Amino acid sequence: AILREISDLDGLETQLRQSLPIQDVKVVPGDADQSKEVKQLLGKAAAQMLANQIKNDSIVTVTGGSTMAAVADHMRPVQNFHPLFVPARGGLGDMYEYQASSICVQMAKQVNGSYRLLYVPDTVGEEIYSKMMEEPAVKDVLSLIEKADFVIHGIGDAMKMAKRRKASQEQIEHLKKNSAVGEAFGYYFDQDGKTIHQLNSIGMTKEHLTEDKTIITVAGGTSKCQVISAFFKWGPSDVLIIDEAMARHLLNQI
Ligand code: F6P
Repeated sequence: AILREISDLDGLETQLRQSLPIQDVKVVPGDADQSKEVKQLLGKAAAQMLANQIKNDSIVTVTGGSTMAAVADHMRPVQNFHPLFVPARGGLGDMYEYQASSICVQMAKQVNGSYRLLYVPDTVGEEIYSKMMEEPAVKDVLSLIEKADFVIHGIGDAMKMAKRRKASQEQIEHLKKNSAVGEAFGYYFDQDGKTIHQLNSIGMTKEHLTEDKTIITVAGGTSKCQVISAFFKWGPSDVLIIDEAMARHLLNQI
């Protein structure tokens, strides 16, 4: 039975590789909404995928969230490589353990790598924001984000993320009114991939998701099925690490 299940997943991966504009895909069994173990499997698969591709001097930029935290937990040293981890964005109002910076520190620790952080407060006015962008320390990290070889990130349900970040009632209304479906990199988007709102945090923007970077998207769970479809319309992804629930959803849509 186990063998049949594995070959079934192989079949899903082959079909997805053929039908989506991606370089690679890994499907783990189950539905992340149903069992916590599935998120761990996603983390392990993503960590392995990155380990297979990383080099000594690779720069990896990462986002936050519980899925990325699971990726960090499963990372292990690769030869005697010392990759550099940088957070994709400064604080986004996320809980400490879900912030990109905390995850960067954890990843660097796990692989004997190093990390750089973006020390920026969450919400600052326009004037302070532009001044901070001129700070050499901030500029330095931004240039590392620009140069990154890998982007590894999660995606989330728009409303869930807005609530996790304690968005104001007004912001929530705005997202609802515009039918926001998903969120990634601080951008909220609708089912057609149209940006509804972008959080005012320093760091990576959509324009940084360029072809020279390998973008690894890690997500699972029935509740994120609509989000992944919208995300594909919003921006690029090269490698997918998803669960079976999401894989079947994507194949049904094609
Ligand atoms: O807040 C960082 C972030 O990567 C978001 O961009 C994304 O929507 C969310 O975390 C995913 O969180 P989780 O993995 O906990 O669902």
